[in-house]
Amino acid sequence: MTYSRIVGTGRYLPERIMTNADLEKIVDTSDEWIRTRTGVERRHVCAEDQTTSDMCIEAAKVAIEDAGISVSEIDMVITGTTTPDLIFPNISTIIQHKLGIPACTAFSLEAACTGFIYALTTADKFIKAGEVKCALVMGAECITKLVDWSDRNTCVLFGDGAGAVILKPSEEPGIISCHLGADGQYKDLLYYPVGASKDLATAGTAGAKIMMSGNEVFKVAVKTLGKIAMETLDDAGVSKEELDWLVPHQANIRIIQAMAKRLDMPMEKVIVTVQDHGNTSAASVPMALDVGIRDGRLKRGQLILMEAFGGGFTWGSVLMRL
Ligand code: ACO
Repeated sequence: MTYSRIVGTGRYLPERIMTNADLEKIVDTSDEWIRTRTGVERRHVCAEDQTTSDMCIEAAKVAIEDAGISVSEIDMVITGTTTPDLIFPNISTIIQHKLGIPACTAFSLEAACTGFIYALTTADKFIKAGEVKCALVMGAECITKLVDWSDRNTCVLFGDGAGAVILKPSEEPGIISCHLGADGQYKDLLYYPVGASKDLATAGTAGAKIMMSGNEVFKVAVKTLGKIAMETLDDAGVSKEELDWLVPHQANIRIIQAMAKRLDMPMEKVIVTVQDHGNTSAASVPMALDVGIRDGRLKRGQLILMEAFGGGFTWGSVLMRL
């Protein structure tokens, strides 16, 4: 059986860092409130003229070099993002062209914070089916461009960035098991009220801002992520004791701690970047993966569970051997 395996990773974070102290000057909040309720200490914010594809290209270059491949080998590009450069053409075509990747399957995928897990799962299927030999898979977000900087309920949470992986076929796992889910009944708990076919003219006005019922999101996230993590492990016949690392979506330190508790994992076995990155939506898991690999904590052969949860709601998890 053919598996898919991550052979290279990369990340890009915009230069500008916004600390909690900076936010104290903009809204009625405090460093103490933000740190204790969310775990966030700082976040990176993209420049006004910087787009999601600009960040993806930088992250992808690092991943391509890490994998030791040439761009001509890449035959699929998928980007999980809620904040593409344009409504069309899709962001993966922009990245493919700018990186000099030959014409290939290239598309974007919108699943809010779960975008990367959905994209990775999709690429895994193409590789297992033998249709793709080398996929560039990214999760990226310029989410601060949707943020209302006068709304303290949401503006303290988010940050920008891009994470990229190169996925290739392998005789050994690799990706072992993927689980995706979604339930639109929760739409009103977390959404952005503007789209290509709805109220486009209101984009950039006061009413167009991230709408979030934080407490409700929190409760459903913890319950759903706990359930899908166990389903993923059971499906693969793996016990939670066998897991070496949890690489979770970085929405909130308290959600991450609750997940670790459900899996009986000490926080020393969890990659946490929320303090430095904030919630970067679809970029958070691939960037956390890259951080853990590059600082030497995540090693080849280790068993890793990645999971994410976001607007929709959408959710997903991937179990893999690095
Ligand atoms: N600074 C100071 N006070 C604040 C701030 C702020 N930035 N934001 C809200 N408050 C106030 C509220 O107004 C409220 O005041 P009140 O009691 O006088 O009404 C008080 O703090 C408590 O508000 P809660 O919403 O109950 O605070 P909670 O402990 O639930 O924390 C938070 C809020 C951090 C949003 C939390 O609910 C959360 O993280 N939820 C998950 C949502 C999430 O992660 N969303 C990201 C996108 S989805 C995803 O990635 C999974």
